Amino acid sequence: MSPANQPGTGMLGVETGILDSFPDPVVVVSRSRAVVAANRAAREILAQNYLGRDLAISLRHPEVLAAVDAVLQSGEGEEVELTLPGIVPRTFYLHVTAIPPSDGVGAEAILLFRDVTVARRSEQMRADFVANVSHELRSPLSALLGFIETLKGPARNDEAARVRFLDIMQAEAERMTHLIDDLLSLSRVEINEHVQPRGRTDLVPILRSIAVAVSNRSGDRGARLELDAAVDVPAVVGDPDELRQVFQNLVDNALKYGRPGTAVTVALRAVPRVPQVGGPGVAVAVIDQGDGIAADEIPRLTERFYRVDKGRSRSVGGTGLGLAIVKHIVSRHRGHLQIDSTIGVGSTFTVTLPVAPALG
Ligand SMILES: Nc1ncnc2c1ncn2[C@@H]1O[C@H](COP(=O)(O)OP(=O)(O)OP(=O)(O)O)[C@@H](O)[C@H]1O
Ligand SMILES: [Mg+2]
Repeated sequence: MSPANQPGTGMLGVETGILDSFPDPVVVVSRSRAVVAANRAAREILAQNYLGRDLAISLRHPEVLAAVDAVLQSGEGEEVELTLPGIVPRTFYLHVTAIPPSDGVGAEAILLFRDVTVARRSEQMRADFVANVSHELRSPLSALLGFIETLKGPARNDEAARVRFLDIMQAEAERMTHLIDDLLSLSRVEINEHVQPRGRTDLVPILRSIAVAVSNRSGDRGARLELDAAVDVPAVVGDPDELRQVFQNLVDNALKYGRPGTAVTVALRAVPRVPQVGGPGVAVAVIDQGDGIAADEIPRLTERFYRVDKGRSRSVGGTGLGLAIVKHIVSRHRGHLQIDSTIGVGSTFTVTLPVAPALG
């Protein structure tokens, strides 16, 4: 490192030590736009050998340079938003202000950067979310409108068509109801995510009632649900309604994405440790014999609206919100979700939840 790049007192006597305590980048430039001082955070975004040299050498960003020039000329403040490339690109909101010069001649400028990467990313996610919801609602709605038009017009007196179309309309309306129920669940869980539930919940009756419902339900392509519960599994800390939702979603997926006629197994065991959280737990594994999921898809499964095969999921009525709900409920319970899968063999979704403290 050249002496000019040593942190400390910059040219014109600006003390970078004080600036170093600011978490966001701060750069001071002279009236000729030379970098006079840069704090530690700024040194991460400036090219090397910046001190005493034109800002254009260490920060090649035309809009920033134009803003600095304007401030040096007019003495008025300027604001710019910029994204700097890198392995993880960072977005900054930059405020450039004129400051009185240390030698009393002309104006200098101070550049205050604020890292808005996280805020911009969440705005983008919200926009994508609204676009996804609108898209998912629009397709069943336009199908409904299309069938209503046909039933009022060309198929007015066609009894067979009416029966068939009404069935499709019912399925589309059910799809919309399912989507809205899922959206409401998701927002309810998100609101409460920081509050860990307090109740004690015995998982065995919940899993047993899910298994009974599956065996009574027609149309599950001949699938069976086998419950394999170890004896004396302790109760967990949790909200029974939310935990039922978790296992209902996992079982529904196993039945939907399992091969027709194969069994789905739900295995319940006490384990010494909840992974990544610690403390004794109860692990529930939902095991299917389906096509499996590619390793690079697994981390994305819990994203809202993410479906590996959009066409296939839609045809079985999926909107891609089930696992997002599962993830949020499990994290609210301070539990852990593990997804293991082998292509052509099947998938295992394991939820581990903390054991409830002993009674009395
Ligand atoms: N057991 C499984 N085997 C194979 N793929 C699965 C399994 N479970 C989930 N997936 C994949 O993960 C995607 C996301 O699952 P998720 O439960 O979030 O949505 P969905 O089942 O499509 O719709 P929803 O649950 O909202 O009705 C599914 O679309 C499917 O591609
Ligand atoms: Mg699902």
